[in-house]
Amino acid sequence: MPNAEDHRTPASTSSSTFINRRQFLAAGTTVAAVSALPACSNPDAQTSERPAGVPVGPFDAKSTAMEVTEGLDLSGTTAFITGCNSGLGYETMRVLTARGATVIGAARSEQKAADACASVDGEAIPVVCELGELDSVAACGTAVRALGMPLDMVILNAGIMALPELEQINGFEKQFFVNHIGHFTLGSYLRDQVLAAPQGRFVVVSSSGHQFAPDSGIEFDNLSGERDYSPWGMYGTSKLANGLYTMQLSRQLEGSNATANVIHPGVINTNLGRHFPWWQRVASKLIGWTFMKSTEAGAATQTYVATAPALADYSGYYFADCNPIMPDPRMLDAAQAEKLWEVSEEIAGEYYYGA
Ligand SMILES: NC(=O)c1ccc[n+]([C@@H]2O[C@H](COP(=O)([O-])OP(=O)(O)OC[C@H]3O[C@@H](n4cnc5c(N)ncnc54)[C@H](OP(=O)(O)O)[C@@H]3O)[C@@H](O)[C@H]2O)c1
Repeated sequence: MPNAEDHRTPASTSSSTFINRRQFLAAGTTVAAVSALPACSNPDAQTSERPAGVPVGPFDAKSTAMEVTEGLDLSGTTAFITGCNSGLGYETMRVLTARGATVIGAARSEQKAADACASVDGEAIPVVCELGELDSVAACGTAVRALGMPLDMVILNAGIMALPELEQINGFEKQFFVNHIGHFTLGSYLRDQVLAAPQGRFVVVSSSGHQFAPDSGIEFDNLSGERDYSPWGMYGTSKLANGLYTMQLSRQLEGSNATANVIHPGVINTNLGRHFPWWQRVASKLIGWTFMKSTEAGAATQTYVATAPALADYSGYYFADCNPIMPDPRMLDAAQAEKLWEVSEEIAGEYYYGA
């Protein structure tokens, strides 16, 4: 595995190429949210550089998950995915099972997991995981461990976005807790099985929205959201946390055959916008087609990074439109990633596997 750190220098990333985060946050209106989506959908607007040495494949923003796996026989492999009942998670599960993988599909209720798993062709095993409840996360992790299967792919995909008002779980802001702490805790249960696979892969679904996090990155004194709350700022914090977690996990996996990479799927009209006001959801449906990806294309990047043989040796990278790009420099802050790991372990407490 190459020393990914060599390729991660943010120096080549011009901050002028990022969309104007301050303007976005200052607008503070749902109109601004819609108007920003096209910029998010073009990850190349974030960077003028690709990380050196990482293979650039033949796929792009229009490629679908079926296309990026064409010709692959995934029989005998096992994938685990959160959020298997909706949007990108469902499409990823559908395609992986169609290619022969066994998928362990996690959803918030038995019914949702069972219905989703029953509706795909191929083998899918339903499990329950409510990421906002750590006893549910621990029960899910324990159940997956009990299956005893090496995990070739762990796709941490579920998420929530832009809650209009501050909501908390255990005193922490809800997007940070569900999107990051839930997955962080779950990942601790699954790591042994990823390491047991011939070449196990963690794929964490972040967002180009990680750039909406505060300038200083994770504000450890505001994880409750009480000092300062904005729907997009906290979504950005949670998605930056997804990225920092992945980079730290990748460093921890060095020397093994396992990898960890993080992705931005594009902008897709899934159920993720459920917290938008009704008129904005209607607007998304009416004009979204002009710049949004289909769900089939939205699921492509995570499916590609989870399966592409060419990526077996590459870890600690950020992908969008099925190719590596430079993330916001804050995602590459190793000191902050280490601190986030420590703080997250404290928050997970007894639920962190092996604690
Ligand atoms: N769509 C986009 O434009 C876009 C852009 C950038 C990044 N992403 C990321 O892509 C990922 C997938 O989103 P999507 O677009 O497919 O949205 P989606 O259709 O809303 O799917 C989200 C999934 O997460 C699950 N989920 C939500 N809260 C949960 C919780 N507390 N515990 C467990 N599962 C929970 C949902 O379950 P329920 O159905 O039961 O609520 C659903 O299965 C997210 O991480 C999102 O941040 C999406």
